[in-house]
Amino acid sequence: MKRKLLFLALFLTAIQPLMADEGMWLPALISQRIADMQAKGFKLSAEDVYSVNQASLKDAVVLFGGGCTGEIVSDEGLLFTNHHCGYSYIQRHSSVEHDYLKDGFWAMNRKEELPNPGLSVSFLERMEDVTGQVLKGYDSSMSEAQRDSVVRANSAVLTRAATAEGKGLRASVEALYYGNQYFLFVFRVYRDVRLVGAPPSSIGKFGGDTDNWMWPRHTGDFSIFRVYADKDNNPADYSEDNVPYRPKKSFKISRAGVKEGDFTFVYGCPGSTKEYAVSEDVRYVSELSDPQKIALRTLRLDNIKKYMDQSQAVRIQYSSKAANVSNAWKKWQGEAKGIDKNKTVAVKRDYERRFAEWAKGTRYEGLVERLNGLFERRHPYYLAYEYYSETARAIELLSFASNIRNTLGNAQAKANAAESFFKDYFRPIDEENFAALMDAFGKNLPEEFQPEYYKTKMAQFGSAEAWASYVFDNTLFIDKDKVLALKESDEGIVLTDPAFEMYNAFYRWYYDDLRPIINELSPEIELAYRDYMQGQMDFEKDKTFYPDANLTLRVAYGHVEGYTPSDGVYYYPVSTLKGIIEKDDPNIFDYDIPQRLRDIYAEGGHEDQPVCFLATNHTSGGNSGSPVINADGNLIGINFDRVWEGTMSDIVFDPEICRNISLDIRYLLFCIEHIGGATYLFDEMEFVD
Ligand code: ARG
Ligand code: ASP
Repeated sequence: MKRKLLFLALFLTAIQPLMADEGMWLPALISQRIADMQAKGFKLSAEDVYSVNQASLKDAVVLFGGGCTGEIVSDEGLLFTNHHCGYSYIQRHSSVEHDYLKDGFWAMNRKEELPNPGLSVSFLERMEDVTGQVLKGYDSSMSEAQRDSVVRANSAVLTRAATAEGKGLRASVEALYYGNQYFLFVFRVYRDVRLVGAPPSSIGKFGGDTDNWMWPRHTGDFSIFRVYADKDNNPADYSEDNVPYRPKKSFKISRAGVKEGDFTFVYGCPGSTKEYAVSEDVRYVSELSDPQKIALRTLRLDNIKKYMDQSQAVRIQYSSKAANVSNAWKKWQGEAKGIDKNKTVAVKRDYERRFAEWAKGTRYEGLVERLNGLFERRHPYYLAYEYYSETARAIELLSFASNIRNTLGNAQAKANAAESFFKDYFRPIDEENFAALMDAFGKNLPEEFQPEYYKTKMAQFGSAEAWASYVFDNTLFIDKDKVLALKESDEGIVLTDPAFEMYNAFYRWYYDDLRPIINELSPEIELAYRDYMQGQMDFEKDKTFYPDANLTLRVAYGHVEGYTPSDGVYYYPVSTLKGIIEKDDPNIFDYDIPQRLRDIYAEGGHEDQPVCFLATNHTSGGNSGSPVINADGNLIGINFDRVWEGTMSDIVFDPEICRNISLDIRYLLFCIEHIGGATYLFDEMEFVD
């Protein structure tokens, strides 16, 4: 018996390093995890990961734009991120004459780098627990609204003080654990960021939406930028006089490669997760929200695809839009399935039963029941709200009409808005989307939740198609010259335009009918969630809780590992160029590789060129572009995706199935050399092998 126990203990410690890679940890508190990280192979210290006193890895990681991550890889501000993170910027520089999306782009010297107005990167200066300061003046007799104003006022004082120095500083106070804790984040934001290189989409988006969220994967999902600063290394608007930013820290690049079991560390900005949600919240996602939104997006994607297949011009116009629509569409499918397969709703209900039992006689008594009840009340309204955003808000013309109305007094802003809208607008897609979405709206949303405006229009025109024709034939917003000719005094014309009128009617419905009820329930839900979060921590004293993602910088560590997606199948964790050639097919858009890549392969010697790898890091949307670091703290890859069967990791992390997908850094180097011929970039990188 004793021997058995001993064996069990040994067995458990032996498998432990392979388990529990769940978690996205706060860098400032990494000292609490560092022993575990080191036990799993990491060789650096907590101070190497995050420090405010000395240069640390965090100084080489940035929030790229509004929702991706990037990393600095040279002393001259060179930055890597994903192709899909740079995509909209590459697209804006593209036209049929010079199509950088299709052909790739390579600056051959600094002068050729392309500026990107509106793009910025944010370096984290420091983060700090400010819970006490944020809650100063609050006492538990206050209402949620009063608490909110206390939090807001105190946060404003803190962020103002933190950014007093100016020089591109931005600060925000973020709630963690549903507001049981608050952290101040101070960033330095650089706003002159130039495009240096991007592979053709047939490499950077190889596999397209077909392979998106899937393994085996062969996407060369990278793009290269450079951060510029003024001569004092401070943030500045774009100027020819700016100079490459000199970072406190940049990543060294390892060409040693990865193998199964190797330690991996993803340093980046995951956007949003809800790991501690109640069962009703999860049930809503997997049984109502995901399936309905998937169906609505299928309608749009079918229309878009039909026209993209017919015309190269439309393909350029809608490539970025289609990728956006398709990305969440596919993720939701994996997520709903994953929740279903893991029986997460049932598991949560069981947990809640035990929690409720334990909570009897404590201040948590009745809490979880109440929280579930609140969600039940909110669901129909929230679903209607999601219908609003996936239908009326998805008709391009309507949003454009509203944008133009807001710029009536500003001719330049109006001209800019019109310019960028018409550059990428194709009426048949939008008109058919209108008809399909408005048709589905009436069929799927219970009648008592439909706005009167909708019912009147459908009665008037008889069908969504006829209604669409009427709007598109009679709106002025379809005509660029008419839009440009609008004057400030033309507000009356805008207000009676059928496109604007419809935009406005749906907006009023959301604003007057849905929002008040959703908003009325929100503070109650927030308060209950805050208590429930604390309750779970008290209930499971021995468990370490990491805060849900909120686009703040996090550490996720794990190791390279394959997985079994279904019975009888095992996926190896590494893909190679050989697999690209196996998929290559000139007749399939997503798999049609550049001739150059075929030629290089034919020369021989590149069969085993690594392309992507899988690991067990807990990542989310926003982690795209994140540096993947080895045990020595050197760059081995760029994170860009997760496997489809594991996309429920935003709600429930299954260590058997959840895998992040990274680009092997050696494929990036291969592309710079063989596809871009931009090997001059190697001179500024530092390699360790
Ligand atoms: N699934 C990845 C992420 O969520 C990549 C998305 C871009 N690629 C695409 N084919 N849409 O961002
Ligand atoms: N592809 C995602 C991103 O853009 C990453 C993920 O969801 O795993 O951030």
